[in-house]
Amino acid sequence: MPAHAAEVRSPDGRIVFTVELDTAGRVLYEVSFDKEQVVAASRLGLRFKDHAPIEASLQLVAEKNTSSDSVWEQPWGERRFVRDHYNELLLEFVSVDGPERRLALRVRVHDDGLGFRYEVPEQTNYQNVDIVDELTEFRVPGDAVAYWIPGRGWNRYEYLYRTTPIEELSLAHTPVTMRMSSGTHISFHEAALTDYSGYTLDQRRPGVLQTNLAPRSDGVRVSTQTPFITPWRTIQISPDAVGLLNSSLILNLNEPNVLGDVSWVEPGKYVGIWWAMHLGQRTWGSGEQHGATTAETRRYIDFAAEHGFDGVLVEGWNTGWDGDWFNNGAIFSFTEPYPDFDLQGVANYAREKGVRLVGHHETSGHISNYETQMAGAYDLYESLGVRQIKTGYVADGGQMQRVDSRGVVHYEWHDSQIGANHYRFVLEEAAKRKISINTHEPIKDTGLRRTYPNWISREGARGQEYNATWAPPNPPEHNVLLTYTRLLGGPMDFTPGIFDLLHQGPGSGHRVQSTLMHQLALYVVLYSPIQMAADLPENYARHREAFQFIVDVPTDWEESIAVAGEVGDYVAFARKERRGEDWYLGAIGDEEPRRLNVPLAFLDAERSYVATIYRDGEGADWTTNPYDYVIETKELGRDQMLELKLAAGGGTAIRFRPVPEAEQ
Ligand code: NOJ
Ligand code: CA
Repeated sequence: MPAHAAEVRSPDGRIVFTVELDTAGRVLYEVSFDKEQVVAASRLGLRFKDHAPIEASLQLVAEKNTSSDSVWEQPWGERRFVRDHYNELLLEFVSVDGPERRLALRVRVHDDGLGFRYEVPEQTNYQNVDIVDELTEFRVPGDAVAYWIPGRGWNRYEYLYRTTPIEELSLAHTPVTMRMSSGTHISFHEAALTDYSGYTLDQRRPGVLQTNLAPRSDGVRVSTQTPFITPWRTIQISPDAVGLLNSSLILNLNEPNVLGDVSWVEPGKYVGIWWAMHLGQRTWGSGEQHGATTAETRRYIDFAAEHGFDGVLVEGWNTGWDGDWFNNGAIFSFTEPYPDFDLQGVANYAREKGVRLVGHHETSGHISNYETQMAGAYDLYESLGVRQIKTGYVADGGQMQRVDSRGVVHYEWHDSQIGANHYRFVLEEAAKRKISINTHEPIKDTGLRRTYPNWISREGARGQEYNATWAPPNPPEHNVLLTYTRLLGGPMDFTPGIFDLLHQGPGSGHRVQSTLMHQLALYVVLYSPIQMAADLPENYARHREAFQFIVDVPTDWEESIAVAGEVGDYVAFARKERRGEDWYLGAIGDEEPRRLNVPLAFLDAERSYVATIYRDGEGADWTTNPYDYVIETKELGRDQMLELKLAAGGGTAIRFRPVPEAEQ
């Protein structure tokens, strides 16, 4: 029978984290929520290559309880003010036999979940250490339905979500979300992943999930020195699905901004030379179909300027794309434009039109080629007034290339310690030039945007690009599932707003599996401080009135509230713009048509609003009638309930504008 060692509760008392020591001196923890066990006794510990493990024969030598309640401000975000309210427990353990081993465990319990991490102090027997296994377990008792994608696969994080009983979960990428039979929702993830490797959840025994750290190419999981701390191992806990969406746990467990003044980090909307390549109409490489020409870029700049977009992304502008660019990372130049692309000229033209070029660096995962050129490439973009760069790492999982000083190539995982440190290096170098980074094929998002606010967005899941021509498209439930899994980690550059849903003609398997209104709602539902209007300019002209929502919708918010949802079925968010009074609502559903009653209690008191509602028409259905929509206005206030009718694969997008005081 393990001996009770210590306990810490959430400020509201509903979550209890208990630590025990068993007779072998192993440290175990348990978690309950409203007296329901959500994690049963689970082991903790670390194993090393050349050092005795820290996993048993431990005794508790110090215990400290503290509390904190503060509010901090985000420079940009889904909400401006974030409350960070928790009770903390710090435990120090020392070995009772063998070589002396010291380990501390820091636990923070918030009302919306908890995090714990190892803190390994400096100590005689442990200086340079190679971690070969982290023993952290999460034993999930009873039945639970898990929502997850496989971890450590060739396609990185770009898989369709699985909804399975927990027994069927194998190596899973986090966030992994679960609905327990009681209805309690939990999600496992990590916060502040830096100079360490990311973990996948490995079901080692039935119901026993263990952290499996991504290895480095030398087989070691993490190579470090004492003192060191691990990322936080996090469990978000909520009585319902929406509670997970309203949690700020991951951000709260990250360190404050280290970049100082970040007023140069600019949320906003962009268009770009992008979708045409995914449709196969244009090429990244040179030739007659080359996308990134001077003329085409000017056309996009004109379109951006006409509709008030902030940026124009140009992919395929630099040499290296000819041939098999997925596997040619070593030959990319990040400073040499193709001859038909006048980089300086288009930058000047953009400036005249009040638009910024958005830079693009596809590395194909060759991190050494990129690191060698980084300083020059960022200097060049800085000199051209570029404030954002989209990066790409399309190498298969485990195939990022790193060349050492002897010229030997090592193949690494995106979420290895090597990967974690590369992505952070990019942020630091970019920040020196006031440049923000939007990473595609990134490492998982663990909330580092708080510490490095120039990490403005990232991909890291199946995005819109899968609805083009080169892969089976995302099914209708995918976008709903993204909110309850991937987006719990942070913003996603999904690139919404495809209006030509049937781009390959009726009957083709390649299309967007949603209604047009669903595409609008994504701007509110899938949070990102930068949002792309991803379609070709000519396709927006055909639905000019619907396009107005994309023109109007902001990307930086004073407040965000998930107002309705069930994992995998539907979700609705209300968000209030920053520096303004308007509220927006976005709701999307899966393949089932449904009606939702949404209380408008989020609206500000004592005001009425004119709501412009963009909704599916009565006959709308993503399969047969995706373009049936209605745009209508209504006067609404916070005491009212609004019924939303979502078609199969449908959505609703609403802009609420306060009626001027004089008219109320
Ligand atoms: C994958 C990215 O996700 C996509 O947006 C980009 O167009 C290609 N890589 C090329 O960089
Ligand atoms: Ca991608």
